[in-house]
Amino acid sequence: MKIVKTVDEVRVIVKEWKKEGLTVGLVPTMGFLHAGHKSLIDEARKNNDVVIVSIFVNPTQFGPGEDYESYPRDEERDFKLCEEAGVDAVFTPDPEEFYQNHKTYVTIEDLKDNLCGKTRPIHFRGVLTVLTKLFNIFRPTRAYFGRKDAQQFLIVKKAVKDLNFGIEIVPCPIKREDDGLAISSRNVYLSDEERKAAPVLHRALEKGKAAIKKGMKAEDLIKIIEDEINGQSSLGNSSAVIILRNLSVKVVFRL
Ligand code: PAF
Repeated sequence: MKIVKTVDEVRVIVKEWKKEGLTVGLVPTMGFLHAGHKSLIDEARKNNDVVIVSIFVNPTQFGPGEDYESYPRDEERDFKLCEEAGVDAVFTPDPEEFYQNHKTYVTIEDLKDNLCGKTRPIHFRGVLTVLTKLFNIFRPTRAYFGRKDAQQFLIVKKAVKDLNFGIEIVPCPIKREDDGLAISSRNVYLSDEERKAAPVLHRALEKGKAAIKKGMKAEDLIKIIEDEINGQSSLGNSSAVIILRNLSVKVVFRL
């Protein structure tokens, strides 16, 4: 497995792959890899001649006061996971080299303004900018994204279509802990109490989903979800209810 740090080095490798007519699967990540990332790599491995993983904590998608500095990092463990998963190359650029005197950003209308975009106004601009750079550098045949970041997946898919990248964007199922919590690098931030409480989000959404299938109306759906969360006294977190209220409204709109 090659470990590559600069865009110039990558270009040489990609040129060779393209000359040989190989299909390229890209798994973009911010590192601290877990079973969710491994499942993206496995999917990419199945359908492409070569697989590349980018590991880059992308500064442009973090707003002021967010966790850019403290975002969990463990490069050696990440390299080992990639090697064992049969990755051909890992790209880990240096932020200064990657973004030297950068002035150009990619943004999307509408889709960025709700859910995560409401509290993280520059987040999706940073995501689309880094992905545009990675897509231009690697020219992948396919790129793989987890459904955990549902808004990100939809935004990337739309941008790729709008900007004619000609890349297949492949969604992959959410990987969960045994108690239903979606696996995420940021789960390490949870205190013991929060970790115990967190699966309520999944349980509440599952209840909502079952209610939708039975034809329940939007107002009742929100109540079912709120009741599930409020029933868990240790969470006691009204912001979770607000997030789920937003989500359930979206789900109802889409039906
Ligand atoms: O989902 C992530 O880890 C990041 O947003 C991504 C897609 C790697 C872009 O930095």
